[in-house]
Amino acid sequence: MDQAALKETAQALVAPGKGVWANDASPATLDKRLEAVGIVPSEEARRDFREMLIKTEGLGEFISGIILHEDTLKGNTKDGIPFTELVKKQGIIIGIKVDKGTKDLANFPGEKVTEGLDGLRERLVEYKELGARFTKWRAVITIGDGIPTDVGIEANSEVFARYAALAQEADLVPIVEPEVLMEGSHGIERCKEVTARVLKSVFKKLVDHKVFLGGMLLKPNVVHPGKDSSEEVENEKVVEATLSTLHNTVPTEVPGVVFLSGGDAAGEMTAHLDLMNEKGPHPWELAFSFERALEGPAMEVWKGDDANIPAAQKELYKRAKLNSLARSGQYKAEMEKGENGG
Ligand code: G3H
Repeated sequence: MDQAALKETAQALVAPGKGVWANDASPATLDKRLEAVGIVPSEEARRDFREMLIKTEGLGEFISGIILHEDTLKGNTKDGIPFTELVKKQGIIIGIKVDKGTKDLANFPGEKVTEGLDGLRERLVEYKELGARFTKWRAVITIGDGIPTDVGIEANSEVFARYAALAQEADLVPIVEPEVLMEGSHGIERCKEVTARVLKSVFKKLVDHKVFLGGMLLKPNVVHPGKDSSEEVENEKVVEATLSTLHNTVPTEVPGVVFLSGGDAAGEMTAHLDLMNEKGPHPWELAFSFERALEGPAMEVWKGDDANIPAAQKELYKRAKLNSLARSGQYKAEMEKGENGG
């Protein structure tokens, strides 16, 4: 393991004013999202969507790294140019989602465990040869009656640690993404308690497996009430709950925390990130690694029509720019009105 190289990559991913774009939805998930905005899903539609967004001029000003799906890492644009070439041309670091998705955890109804460790060591070598410098692994934790259990949390934590150790062995920075899902009617305090339990368990296992904390990034959820909760909370409360959870659980050696958006509205996530950074400095960089909160608005504008490509690219550029401003607490809600982010 080259600790210096891992640290350098991790720090570059959370460089001031920058964040990571997750463009790694599985074909099935991306198809559902395309369909939801009236686009007929197909392999071509997925390719064209990814291609037009990656080509957005100036994206590298705000985006440090892109997490690609394996199909994209190995795939070509409509004109036969490798996607990896497009990403490199933008001056953006190539990342790859390496888990194989979530499966029901036997004997623990309602809980999932992430699969993908078999053959991972060999796959990592291949991804590195294709240009990847960082990786991502996601686990999901559901809040419900009697769940998550300690067994469910520990099963995922153990797998995270084995994944992160393997990624670092290949000199690839691991992004560890334990997502406490927003589905459910729980309040913010319950989300805070579960997120803290999960993060404590994850870091215990990472340390047990001798993962180099200076060469990894954490990708957590923000702490807020469940989607079906009647509890209404201000941005201030979400930020306070999230920051206190992170300060109690995330070791200071970790270079950065890159939030997922989890289905929260794009502007809302930017406002959360902005306020968190305003309340800094923190021991780690606080950045973003959104998928829906970055590319969602662009997908709605695109509608699968070439004529809408410039407008869709503008939307992605705007979200990237506003989140970049939120890295230093300089975002203002009024900027949402400006075409290119104020
Ligand atoms: O796996 C999920 C992505 O890494 C983050 O996506 O920002 O839409 O939650 P999201």
